[in-house]
Amino acid sequence: MWRMLSTSFTEMFGLDVPVAGAPMAGVSGGRLAAAVSAGGGLGMIGVGNTTTAQAIRAEAEVARHGGDPFGIGLMAWALPANPAQFDATLEASPTLVSLSFGDLMPWALRFREAGFRVAMQAGHVEEARAAADQGVDVIVARGREGGGHGLDAVGTLPLLQGVLDAVRVPVLAAGGIVTARGLAAVLAAGAAGAWVGTAFLASPEAANTAAARARILATTETETSYGRVFDVAQRIPWPPEYGGRALTNEFSRRWSGREDELAGDQDAQAELAAARKAGDYDTAYLYAGQGVGLVTEERSASEIVAGLGAGAERLLQAWA
Ligand SMILES: Cc1cc2nc3c(=O)[nH]c(=O)nc-3n(C[C@H](O)[C@H](O)[C@H](O)COP(=O)(O)O)c2cc1C
Repeated sequence: MWRMLSTSFTEMFGLDVPVAGAPMAGVSGGRLAAAVSAGGGLGMIGVGNTTTAQAIRAEAEVARHGGDPFGIGLMAWALPANPAQFDATLEASPTLVSLSFGDLMPWALRFREAGFRVAMQAGHVEEARAAADQGVDVIVARGREGGGHGLDAVGTLPLLQGVLDAVRVPVLAAGGIVTARGLAAVLAAGAAGAWVGTAFLASPEAANTAAARARILATTETETSYGRVFDVAQRIPWPPEYGGRALTNEFSRRWSGREDELAGDQDAQAELAAARKAGDYDTAYLYAGQGVGLVTEERSASEIVAGLGAGAERLLQAWA
């Protein structure tokens, strides 16, 4: 047990390390979630817009096998078209449900009425305040430097300061937290923990490919960009305010700023589908945040979480 790492978040979920493994559709399945939890954090399974109820049940079984708590992260905008995800999540009985990117209601209320704790990722202070008013238990202040989808509104540090002043529930910081320095910084500011995604993209427990992990390791902090190119090309009906941050590649460079044209281009759609199948990341996407430059070795998720805890404890002790 770390003396400096006990927060409202670790107490709420009985954790050793105030770190949630961010839900990452296609990357954080049950195996990654279990590894994060085994390291002392709270691992989460990422559910995509078309993930089936059966897949949710299967991944939850894998996560549960470690015997530690785990969470499930849903995309709020996708639930009306795929309500089976709601039922499968209830059935899987996770320790925490996250609902992000879209209208939380009625889902948040229904989860809370069923006895579940609910988290949501907010991209600006007003969104955090509204979620707290709706009874959300944990607010994630998610800055624009984060990997994957989210608002492109505010960076992690100004957002975290504003959200901490605006709400009374536990606040986790997300976006760019990869090392113990980042975890210590947000804890010192008053966050109850960190919500960490990109740091796990080169872990062997991630459900990505060896080629994807190699690409992550070779990328620096200046080589990501935010936009809607990959969603437009695939005709994924994300609400337009939610773009994603991914590694900049040949395809995103070619189409950035030409999204209207891309929406009608069937050759580009086919090209992207073929590249995804072939694992060609000059064309296919790899979602990752600016913290990717700090991911420099393939390491197990449990080791990463334990290292974040030990390092943050040391830094905070030295400061105290
Ligand atoms: C590959 C990838 C996939 C993601 N998929 C999801 C998702 O399915 N649901 C979700 O709520 N957030 C998703 N996110 C966003 C994360 O929950 C989180 O906001 C982000 O990883 C935090 O920033 P960081 O990547 O700098 O740690 C994803 C992020 C990444 C990198």
